[in-house]
Amino acid sequence: MAFDIEMIKKVYANFGPRVEAARKLVGRPLTLSEKILYAHLWEGNTNTSYNRGVDYVDFAPDRVAMQDATAQMALLQFMQAGRPKVAVPSTVHCDHLITAKLGAAIDLPAANTESKEVFDFLSSVSNKYGIGFWKPGAGIIHQVVLENYAFPGGMMIGTDSHTVNAGGLGMVAIGVGGADACDVMAGLPWELKFPKLIGVKLTGKLNGWTSPKDVILKVAGILTVKGGTGAIVEYFGDGAKNLSCTGKGTICNMGAEIGATTSTFGYDESMERYLRATNRADVADAANAIAAHLTGDAEVYAEPEKYFDQLIEINLSELEPYLNGPFTPDLATPISKMKEVAAANGWPLKVEWGLIGSCTNSSYEDLSRAASIAKQAVDKGLTTKAEFGINPGSEQVRYTANRDGLLATFEDLNATIFTNACGPCIGMWDRVGAEKQEKNTIVHSFNRNFAKRADGNPNTYAFVTSPEVVAAIAIAGDLGFNPLTDTLTNNKGEQVKLDPPKGDELPVNGYAVEDAGYQEPAKDGSGVQVIVSPTSHRLQLLDPFAAWEGTDLKGLKLLIKAKGKCTTDHISMAGPWLKFRGHLDNISNNMLIGAVNFFNEKTDNVKNELTGEYGPVPATQRAYKAAGIGSIVVGDENYGEGSSREHAAMEPRHLGVRAVLVKSFARIHETNLKKQGMLGLTFANKDDYDKILEDDAIDIIGLTTFTPNVPLTLVLNHADGTKEEIVVNHSYNAQQIEWFKAGGALNIIRREAAA
Ligand code: F3S
Repeated sequence: MAFDIEMIKKVYANFGPRVEAARKLVGRPLTLSEKILYAHLWEGNTNTSYNRGVDYVDFAPDRVAMQDATAQMALLQFMQAGRPKVAVPSTVHCDHLITAKLGAAIDLPAANTESKEVFDFLSSVSNKYGIGFWKPGAGIIHQVVLENYAFPGGMMIGTDSHTVNAGGLGMVAIGVGGADACDVMAGLPWELKFPKLIGVKLTGKLNGWTSPKDVILKVAGILTVKGGTGAIVEYFGDGAKNLSCTGKGTICNMGAEIGATTSTFGYDESMERYLRATNRADVADAANAIAAHLTGDAEVYAEPEKYFDQLIEINLSELEPYLNGPFTPDLATPISKMKEVAAANGWPLKVEWGLIGSCTNSSYEDLSRAASIAKQAVDKGLTTKAEFGINPGSEQVRYTANRDGLLATFEDLNATIFTNACGPCIGMWDRVGAEKQEKNTIVHSFNRNFAKRADGNPNTYAFVTSPEVVAAIAIAGDLGFNPLTDTLTNNKGEQVKLDPPKGDELPVNGYAVEDAGYQEPAKDGSGVQVIVSPTSHRLQLLDPFAAWEGTDLKGLKLLIKAKGKCTTDHISMAGPWLKFRGHLDNISNNMLIGAVNFFNEKTDNVKNELTGEYGPVPATQRAYKAAGIGSIVVGDENYGEGSSREHAAMEPRHLGVRAVLVKSFARIHETNLKKQGMLGLTFANKDDYDKILEDDAIDIIGLTTFTPNVPLTLVLNHADGTKEEIVVNHSYNAQQIEWFKAGGALNIIRREAAA
């Protein structure tokens, strides 16, 4: 079904020569991250050495993975690219759109009904363009990728920030927006700033209650949510070799929570065991043949301070279990301190739910270790004080765990087995009573715990920890319970202690599955029809954006001058809007509704210059569009920070905004604007932000000679009849100017495909 051994062999055939060329070029030993990056330069170009954190570089990723919420727009764009099939192996995974409520047997059919047209669309578009399709219930994207596609030394991109999970199998795997995925699937290079490198040296061996999760919980405490920005985190040392492959996946997964570009580990025996257990002996054999290239050079790990931009050391033998939270994943508290820290902060001690799952911690090993705690509870006469919910990571994990009695053990503690899907981790949890917004505590094995993330209740205090600690604390029903030292009272009134968890890295009797939920695409998809109903509320085929008219833009209305922070959430909110991710016109009704209007300090309330009335941003912009009048959005610093969702660029483009002018951009959003054919401009003098008045008519001059590194001019025609000229900068290179002229990068891809 799955992996493409021929593609992997091709990557490996080039790997050694490229690494050797790169080593000569930079004139020193290489880290693993550098080896993978240099081995994946576009067109094998190893003639240039790159500056970390400075140079933008074109790469050729080996694979693309997409989850159902983001795949819709990525594939709607790909359909416009005019390609008969994807240029690199790609997969779609249906995991985000399944609500957890009563258990998989009821929840999965309900989701299949509710989101039928989205799943049918993703299935047919995958079938047509040669994309592997994993049906709802097949599992969570990153677990399925680890089990089937990840391979040591590979490079992949995915339309989900936790794509980084595949670092557990020695990949450089990076989360991107759908437009980037579309480019790579269309056979184009993928650009990334050459990352900085953070080394984490692991010594010793985990023991007792400590698990791989505690490594990343500790690292998050050290680096905080921003500490990994722009960097690859590379783990090495004897301690790394002592970790299981899925445990390494857990650590890499939560690298997203420290803002890291990705995280990775060198190839070792744990990876080889995992590859063989998941039916990929040929990948293991191929990796063994070039094993020396699939880890950092010995000199690097002997003197890491010379080769990494930052170095952290952790002794696994001394590591303690952690609980991170509430409301942020970097607030790390060792389990021995939780009782006093929680009391000091007024965190509710009574635990209402223990949730095990998410792409972070839903492997067989995770379930087996947590089940060993659940089994002890039953054997020792304990009942659980909190409710229990389990989301297995994949159908293969679920089937095997069920065969081996692990799920029955959880059910003995009245656990609900939810679908093999994201569920509560993405807020798709119909939690009874959450609407009352009561202050309460939950513990889970997920990665994120922002306010409202799991159940929509801003007063839910969520703590992130390992599956085995989730199990122990849920049984105790007490956030301050420390299973290393504390006892519990059983049904005979005796004091009993839980022994440390035991688990199997891999199932003793091997993995098994009857129907993994995979749909192989048609060999020739040219006859496959992709059906999107014209009356659908959830899906809409894209029309190409119009090309530039060839003149300067004159008389633009000011749609909004946004004040202060304006992230992609302010521009295109998530939450209830998630269901419109495949329908550009409907989701455009959330455009900029979170941005604060500079002139009245209100959100979603701007002046319609045609009527003089104030109203919602989307409706005002629709009025300009209907009148055939262009508009401009003005913003502050770091405009468009946050997620890489391209909706934040496509919505203004769709509704007729012609330019976004800001003090500074978040890089990915600026690129997204360019890709969609929008003008993204910055004030040459940031104080000119103050010159923009609410009733201005604005001209953009210089477009007929639009050239790299040459600023443009804005004429502000004020309502009192006066005029001011200001200079605005842009960062368009020659190719990006062509995107602007063509009305978007996709129009060029399509034109080339038709030629
Ligand atoms: Fe899904 Fe949560 Fe992972 S939403 S992909 S399980 S972070």
